[in-house]
Amino acid sequence: MLTWLTGDRFQLGDTTFQAMPDDYFDRGGMQITEGDFFVFKSPAEIEEFAKLLSDLQPRRIFELGIHGGGSAVLFAELTRPEKLVTIDLETLPDVRDRIHEHASVSGLGDSVRAFGGVDQGDQAELARLVDQEFGTAELDLVVDDCSHLYGPTKASFDALFPRLRAGGVYVIEDWRWGHTPLGQEEITNWAPEVPLSRLIAEVVLASATLPGLAAQITVESGGVAITRGDGPVKATDFDISALAERAEPNAPAAASERGSGRSPRAGSRWFPRRSG
Ligand SMILES: C[S@@+](CC[C@H](N)C(=O)[O-])C[C@H]1O[C@@H](n2cnc3c(N)ncnc32)[C@H](O)[C@@H]1O
Repeated sequence: MLTWLTGDRFQLGDTTFQAMPDDYFDRGGMQITEGDFFVFKSPAEIEEFAKLLSDLQPRRIFELGIHGGGSAVLFAELTRPEKLVTIDLETLPDVRDRIHEHASVSGLGDSVRAFGGVDQGDQAELARLVDQEFGTAELDLVVDDCSHLYGPTKASFDALFPRLRAGGVYVIEDWRWGHTPLGQEEITNWAPEVPLSRLIAEVVLASATLPGLAAQITVESGGVAITRGDGPVKATDFDISALAERAEPNAPAAASERGSGRSPRAGSRWFPRRSG
């Protein structure tokens, strides 16, 4: 699938991509000029995405965080989607032109749409874009590689997770910066911010409150992938924090609180009933 030309440069069709080199941050984030598009991910992360896309075969993709446009073009080339929308706070007119031009030349027409000047924390604008670009069709994949800040990332999650289909996947990248090993704190500069890991913990807690919320949560060092379960979620005013705190009005009480008299652990997949 991906033909690696060097340790961090690869080719897909006629397009060459430059991945993030190992020493990118040591060099203070150098200007990348090699390859047609820069993908702001390590080679290992790119291979993980290639596997996810191959397994999931998403037709409708919403990406947050354009930067050099490499991930949007890569996802589009790997999936040939019905529609891929990508947004960024920066206007990035040249990058967006290159993305649209690449889509046109590679036969993707206007199925790839890049929008600048969109804040991932602006839920109304995200909802408007989803309505405009996807209509009532559900999303198969959302990839958030954007601010990596708790507030705006949660705002996007609350707006977009309800738009995913059951079995669709929501990826949140770079979630663990609040836990940088001792001695390396200076490379983050994010010390006063709420760690993004809080959102991951809330998703896990909410999935206990609402068992149909997530079918699977995969935590890896580079990102977290949440597969939507087949339970209903509120289409509007969805709030993962309220669910995590069990303050959501329509969250069901745990089985033990409903007075079933049965331990919620008994007979589950993890705690099978003992025979005899
Ligand atoms: C890590 S880069 C995206 C890299 C790209 N997905 C890739 O893999 O090549 C993060 C991007 O998020 C954008 N960004 C940061 N905060 C944002 C916000 N609140 N809303 C929208 N975009 C934001 C930045 O301008 C930047 O282009």
